[in-house]
Amino acid sequence: MDPHILIMAAGQGKRMYSDLPKVLHPVLYRPMLHYVLDVANAIPRKSVSVIVGHGEAAVREACAGFEGLKYFSQPEQKGTADAVRRAESFLKTAEGDLLVLSGDVMLLQSATLEELVNLHRTSGALATVLTAEVSDPKGYGRIVRAADGHIERIREQADCSPEEAKISEVNSGIYVFKIAPLLETLGKIGDRNKQHEFYLTDVIELLGAKGKIAGSRLKDPAEMTGINDRAALARVEGILQERINTAWMFRGVTLQSPASIFIDPLSKIGKDARIEAGSIIVRSQIGEGATVEAGSRVFDTGVGKGAVIKQGSYVHESEIGEGAGVGPYAHLRPGTRLGKNVKIGNFVEVKKSSFGEGSKASHLSYIGDAEVGKNVNLGCGFITCNYDGVNKHKTVIGDDVFVGSDSQLVAPVTIQTGSYVAAGSTITRDVPRDALALSRGKQVNKDGYAKRFRGKSKT
Ligand code: UD1
Ligand code: CA
Repeated sequence: MDPHILIMAAGQGKRMYSDLPKVLHPVLYRPMLHYVLDVANAIPRKSVSVIVGHGEAAVREACAGFEGLKYFSQPEQKGTADAVRRAESFLKTAEGDLLVLSGDVMLLQSATLEELVNLHRTSGALATVLTAEVSDPKGYGRIVRAADGHIERIREQADCSPEEAKISEVNSGIYVFKIAPLLETLGKIGDRNKQHEFYLTDVIELLGAKGKIAGSRLKDPAEMTGINDRAALARVEGILQERINTAWMFRGVTLQSPASIFIDPLSKIGKDARIEAGSIIVRSQIGEGATVEAGSRVFDTGVGKGAVIKQGSYVHESEIGEGAGVGPYAHLRPGTRLGKNVKIGNFVEVKKSSFGEGSKASHLSYIGDAEVGKNVNLGCGFITCNYDGVNKHKTVIGDDVFVGSDSQLVAPVTIQTGSYVAAGSTITRDVPRDALALSRGKQVNKDGYAKRFRGKSKT
């Protein structure tokens, strides 16, 4: 029978010293609780419940994208046994096994949990604990085994005798329980310990008096790393980063200095893509053979095949076409759509604008709320004046338009197909098809003026 799953996520995470509930702290740009929900949803299960308390509204909101969750409130965080008790009304109606997960233990693999559940079933134990041998057990509950090897109890760090403190086998905080006996013992737990908390770990000793306790040692202890402080957060992020980066390298992606590159678990990268040092890629798709040069940040973006994001570019919620070039030092803001082979050059900012195939804005420009056709050339220093201080307005530029350097288009305005805008023009009216628009002061040359001027200023 598949287990019910319960995730404890009500704690404040005091050791984080944070206004943000601990389980919402991001690991590779994603709340840690999402990883736990993912692994819960990846295994066969009857239901998934979340115990919420500290920052309840925020935690619930962060889980909105996950369907079918049950929530139970733990208004006061009195310990992990109390947390599980908050689901008592539901558990009384549930049958079979309960897999307990922690919102702050997020590196667990689904295969590990499935093995744990299987072991629990086949061993007939009342409780099965996931344990690990670690070199530094500090902060974890210690697994106290009897002479014959069976698990007698779990002793929290704060309550350990010097002898117990030396035990290197620790509690991962992940367990499977038979629901009925668990419910019978939960109410019997007291809080007479150093932390004055109701410890879920205390049920192990009580259940041991009634039946068997099984234990399963993790092959890779890193999987159970709990995040209690920001040092552990950084460690876990590092482990996940290495897992993700290694997987991409084995799928044909070149990573330069992988330890400096951060790719979130939701991004996808095509083969022969090259990601350079210091880049961050989040919720994005990078096409085959594309390059993200050093120090670029690419969020919520699709990058087409063979496109190049040059050094130091900052790209959010954009679509970049095949073979396009962006940067160096470009800023693509939400709603940017670049067609095939578009070129956005250095110090160009684009917002909520589309560029048709082959168009270019190669240097020092701002393009906002614009529709730019195909094969358009926007000269150096071109600016769309899209904002009048109250409203944003649209600029439409047809195919094959050439806009000279240092021009401004004051929106709303349309530049029709095939027309020219002379350099240095400020355009406030529509430009018809194939026309030349020129709006700048007429040039006057005054012969010898400069020389005379210099002569004067010397005296
Ligand atoms: C717990 C275990 C410890 C184990 C470690 C593994 C207990 C008493 N100790 O310690 O043996 O080695 O996990 O990581 O269980 N929570 C609630 N309500 C509460 C208290 C906690 O929902 O009242 C939640 C927290 O949000 C967290 C999880 O339970 O997600 C674990 O709580 P935490 O305080 O981090 O326990 P540890 O001290 O790490
Ligand atoms: Ca913890």
